[in-house]
Amino acid sequence: MNKKSINLTAPAKINLFLEVLGKRPDGYHELETVMQEIDLADTITLEETEGGIELSCTDSDVPCDQSNLVWKAARVFQKETGVEKGVRAHLVKRIPVAAGLGGGSSDAAATLKGLNTLWEAGLSETRLMEMGAQIGSDVPFFIKGGTALCTGRGEIVTPLRVRHRFSYIILYPEIRVSTAEIYNNLKIGLTREKKDVNLTCKALLSDNANALNGSLFNRLEEVAFELYPELRGFRELLEGYLPGGGVLLSGSGSAIYGHCEKQEEAENVKEELNRRGIKKAFVVSSMLATASA
Ligand code: C5P
Repeated sequence: MNKKSINLTAPAKINLFLEVLGKRPDGYHELETVMQEIDLADTITLEETEGGIELSCTDSDVPCDQSNLVWKAARVFQKETGVEKGVRAHLVKRIPVAAGLGGGSSDAAATLKGLNTLWEAGLSETRLMEMGAQIGSDVPFFIKGGTALCTGRGEIVTPLRVRHRFSYIILYPEIRVSTAEIYNNLKIGLTREKKDVNLTCKALLSDNANALNGSLFNRLEEVAFELYPELRGFRELLEGYLPGGGVLLSGSGSAIYGHCEKQEEAENVKEELNRRGIKKAFVVSSMLATASA
């Protein structure tokens, strides 16, 4: 019998800007963040079964139980649609975990989109985004893809029509950071100056590399460096190779990226990092939104 199956790509993201506006009554934080998909991706195969959810993964450090966001996405989809079918998912993990690169959230978004196709459920993008928000704050962004300004707790997604493909070098320091721990230790001062997200949006839309470098910002960097002091050294290392600037921690960390003017520059920095014993460095390009997004 020919089983119905589908192959999916789940890209990572970086945060080009992240400001925390305040703490919300629900415990989450009100954000202004610009996220951009990059071409470092996990792949997922979904295969229809008689019932239930099965999950396997190439990375033995990744749990394949109910805590995995692929599993959660499949469960939410089954519950919300009432579909009485099962799925066998296989996840090929390439995106470092607990790195601020959104790997788990992207896997969840790809699973929701994939099941919508596999089970011919015909759900709208808005409906998939609502389901995604139940799974994690970053999941709705990955339903849309491309580059977007994300507000609320991250789930309100405004696409930015970026036409240029930007190049980055990503350094993964092999440190796992807990996002909840970072937010729990964040001190929101009333007197501090709020950073302006419009500078980042304008730089992206006008393809101005220098302006982009100057506008990159992440409010979580300071607390991440306090809790994981080794991270600061990795940032300084990357800054040493990119004197023009444009180096930042992604999300709650631990990955640190540098914006490079050309892919060639990113390749050179990668070689230097490898020579210094840093094995997990990735040359990536930003992804443009697909026509359907
Ligand atoms: O939404 P998600 O499950 O990805 O969030 C992980 C954790 O990060 C939350 O439990 C919360 O502690 C923190 N968080 C937050 N404010 C946000 C997003 C995440 O406090 N806007």
